[in-house]
Amino acid sequence: MHGRRRHRAPQNDAEGRSARNMIEGLRDFLKRLEGRGELIRIRKEVDPRFEVAALIRDIQQRRNQPVLFERVKGSTLPIVSNTCGSYASVSAALGVEPRDLSRIWAERLTHAAALPSAEAVPGQYQPSSLGRLPICTHCEKDAGPYITAGIVAARDLETGLTNLSYHRMQVIGDRELRLRLSPTGHLFEMQQRAERLGKALPMAVLVGVAPTVMLAAAARTNPGLTEVDLAAALAGEPFPLVRCPTLDLAIPEAEIVIEGEMLAGVRRPEGPFGEWMDYYVPVMDNHVLEVQHVWTRPDAMYYAIHSGSAEEIVLTSLPINGDIYQAVKKWVPSVINVACWPMIQFCVIQMEKQYEGQPRKALLAAFGAELTRILFAVVVDPDVDIYDPSDVIWAMTTRCRPDRDTFTIPDVPSFGRDPHQVHWGRLGIDATAPLQWPAEFERKKVPGSGQIRFEDYL
Ligand SMILES: Cc1cc2nc3c(=O)[nH]c(=O)nc-3n(C[C@H](O)[C@H](O)[C@H](O)COP(=O)(O)O)c2cc1C
Repeated sequence: MHGRRRHRAPQNDAEGRSARNMIEGLRDFLKRLEGRGELIRIRKEVDPRFEVAALIRDIQQRRNQPVLFERVKGSTLPIVSNTCGSYASVSAALGVEPRDLSRIWAERLTHAAALPSAEAVPGQYQPSSLGRLPICTHCEKDAGPYITAGIVAARDLETGLTNLSYHRMQVIGDRELRLRLSPTGHLFEMQQRAERLGKALPMAVLVGVAPTVMLAAAARTNPGLTEVDLAAALAGEPFPLVRCPTLDLAIPEAEIVIEGEMLAGVRRPEGPFGEWMDYYVPVMDNHVLEVQHVWTRPDAMYYAIHSGSAEEIVLTSLPINGDIYQAVKKWVPSVINVACWPMIQFCVIQMEKQYEGQPRKALLAAFGAELTRILFAVVVDPDVDIYDPSDVIWAMTTRCRPDRDTFTIPDVPSFGRDPHQVHWGRLGIDATAPLQWPAEFERKKVPGSGQIRFEDYL
């Protein structure tokens, strides 16, 4: 399955980083963000029960920048969050311009190929325990503390390939975590195969990884490719791996590594948990991870993602944006960018319209490219900022006739877990200006607006 890599080398970014030195660990990324004045350091002690989540939400709503909580009650480890909380941050991580994100994502991953396994080097880890980690409780009715940025690394017993995927993990005690495995994910399939053989599935949970690994782990891979191959394609060079301290598994370096095995034939109650759509998922019988060892790097940092927050949406949407971009491009070559933002279900497609009706082709291609998560799709012109929902609403309210420029597709199911069928159907919206009257749809400009800052006049 392994072949030669053929992906296009990434361009240099504004800071002069090139394809040859793209692989940047979490610590270096934080340093770079701090150098750009983007890292928020919270120096006051914070409580991992609710307070951290409330602060993450406040930061995301007002400044949406990466944050480091230096002092956390009950733990010596600091907490990092939101390094991938905006398209600007992930563009910085990948060394690209935000407007090129979907195109470059699609290009790099189209040419991604399986890599021969790199020789894994020993990691520098010291023993720890779940009780020493600042694991946060996020929402009022959550069952308790949850690991929310844990990436499971597990080797498929059949293919021998190592899969990486995020799973929420309820902490039951020092020896037990309960995980949600979506039945559409690779880990679920792998666990089913192991279970049929009556075998527990060994796995390592990685917390706090390089930004390219954070991005790749949220993507679904094609057969024969692993998320490490995707991380390498995104970074532009083979991805270095370390050996797990006790398991026979090569993994990307992580601040924290939790080793254990997922029990065969065992399901126990997990939840409730405040999930990505801002509702609570009810208690369900879910998978059980028996924890054998917890390891931390010296001066380790814990990583927390608030479910459904900007960071989860950006991470989840990037692969979807890339897929939709590619599908639309096939029929509408003048597509510029795609963003499922500020909700995964809401897809914004930016294009240069060449003839009336063309946006409808883009909408159909988008719906066809992602059949579970996109419910609403809107097409906008190049002068609209697709990362700014108020700009998108401006286009919808000034360039779209709701009675003529929209269409619905009835009775199409979407998410797997939708017991009341409230997420069925699709709505397509053409919010592009009519080509016929360009002068009437020229957007007004205020010279200096965007550069002039009122603070300089106080
Ligand atoms: C922050 C975050 C949390 C997630 N939580 C879960 C989860 O609890 N269960 C799950 O099955 N998938 C979860 N996902 C989605 C999977 O990581 C994602 O679907 C991944 O693409 C699965 O890939 P795979 O099927 O190739 O393993 C989460 C994703 C993110 C970004």
